[in-house]
Amino acid sequence: MIRLEVKDLNKTFNVHTRGSIEVKGFENINLSVKQGEFLSLFGPSGAGKSSILKTLFRTYTTTSGSIIFHKDNGNTIDISNASESEILNLRKNEIGYVSQFLQILPRISAVDVVSEQLIFKGESEDVSRIKAKEMLDYLSIREELFDLSPLTFSGGEQQRVNIAKGIIAPKSLLLLDEPTASLDKTNTMKVVEKLKILKTQGVAMVGIFHDLEAMNIISDSIHELKRVG
Ligand SMILES: Nc1ncnc2c1ncn2[C@@H]1O[C@H](COP(=O)(O)OP(=O)(O)OP(=O)(O)O)[C@@H](O)[C@H]1O
Ligand SMILES: [Mg+2]
Repeated sequence: MIRLEVKDLNKTFNVHTRGSIEVKGFENINLSVKQGEFLSLFGPSGAGKSSILKTLFRTYTTTSGSIIFHKDNGNTIDISNASESEILNLRKNEIGYVSQFLQILPRISAVDVVSEQLIFKGESEDVSRIKAKEMLDYLSIREELFDLSPLTFSGGEQQRVNIAKGIIAPKSLLLLDEPTASLDKTNTMKVVEKLKILKTQGVAMVGIFHDLEAMNIISDSIHELKRVG
């Protein structure tokens, strides 16, 4: 089943400095992702990869084109022109976004940051904490860090907490912007193993990987972008 169809998608930024300057983000993007498929975006720095993901998540508005999300019940919704409340609903129930950086509130422990995601979905607190600890342990976070705020963690540790948070309670579509950028090979491959499991569970994913080996292992298809302009 198709999960996401992107048709003739374009993004131009209007940057207001003295006067207004137009900056091309990306142009004429056509993609489709099925349930359980991983699509990678690949191309040079500045080609528009992150901007595409942000547009799919509606962090950025669309200049032209459509982004059709297919729900399990057969209904579709065009993310490019959906209302704010529809977007909030999609983000709550259907679409997850994992960026390179962890953005969290202070004074919440690593375990809570991760277990919250399961609790939101209706899992009990005890089970959620056990599963969160298992995931953190799998991603090589030391147990002595579990009850501390990730704000004091190293860059790579924060990124692993971020991934744990992003994949522990997967939604039907997951957008991943260089989730392993500051991880070593061992941890990158551990993340890849977890993403493979998400595929078997039917999660559709659009991702950007720095590590070409990881990209080739996980991808069902690769969309190559040229530099714009
Ligand atoms: N919010 C913004 N305002 C103005 N221009 C932007 C904005 N976001 C992105 N751009 C521009 O869009 C183009 C694509 O940027 P984007 O971040 O999508 O590239 P990328 O392919 O993810 O690059 P990298 O591999 O370096 O992360 C760049 O020229 C950038 O300057
Ligand atoms: Mg980017």
